[in-house]
Amino acid sequence: MLTQCFQWELPSALPPAEHLIERLDRMKHHEALLAVSKTSFPSDWGRAHFYPLVNGPSRFYRIYFVSEPPESGLASQSPWLEEFQRLRLLAQEGRDFSEPAQALRVQVLEQLAWQESEMFPLICKFLGTDRPTREMGYEHQGLRRFLPELEQALEMLGKRWERFSLDFVHLLEHHIEHEENGLYPIYDRLLQGGKGGCRVQ
Ligand SMILES: [Fe+2]
Repeated sequence: MLTQCFQWELPSALPPAEHLIERLDRMKHHEALLAVSKTSFPSDWGRAHFYPLVNGPSRFYRIYFVSEPPESGLASQSPWLEEFQRLRLLAQEGRDFSEPAQALRVQVLEQLAWQESEMFPLICKFLGTDRPTREMGYEHQGLRRFLPELEQALEMLGKRWERFSLDFVHLLEHHIEHEENGLYPIYDRLLQGGKGGCRVQ
């Protein structure tokens, strides 16, 4: 059960990692520490159970927990990438791909909408800041821009295909990695019970 998030705004000159360890040693299993830095975190700040939420350019956010993550209750979004490759293959073979392509588009759009209406507000409230979810929201906007072109793109050739593939698939890959390594571990813990607010220190 996660009930409390402490926010730690770090000075430009980061304190030694021992300060982090001292704080984590005092924390309980139902607490989290949101560390916000103006510079990137050095390698010795890599204590177990931390997740990057925002990586620059002007701010770096990390959340630390003192306990193991629970088993995730959220389905991975990685199968979208495999489905995208399968659809491309169907298109190249001249086979019909319109129905599964439409299904993929709907699935992605529904998931984005669910995250924005259910998951992001809960995480935002817990963290006491909307910066990490806002960043994910920008990526959602990017994905929404490409999705209407999905079916048309699957039949593209040469540079047009390369361009779409690079823009869309790389954004999707980056987004999935970013979200599942950052927000999902928080949401999984919040689902266990407590939904308390953030205390700034
Ligand atoms: Fe997302």
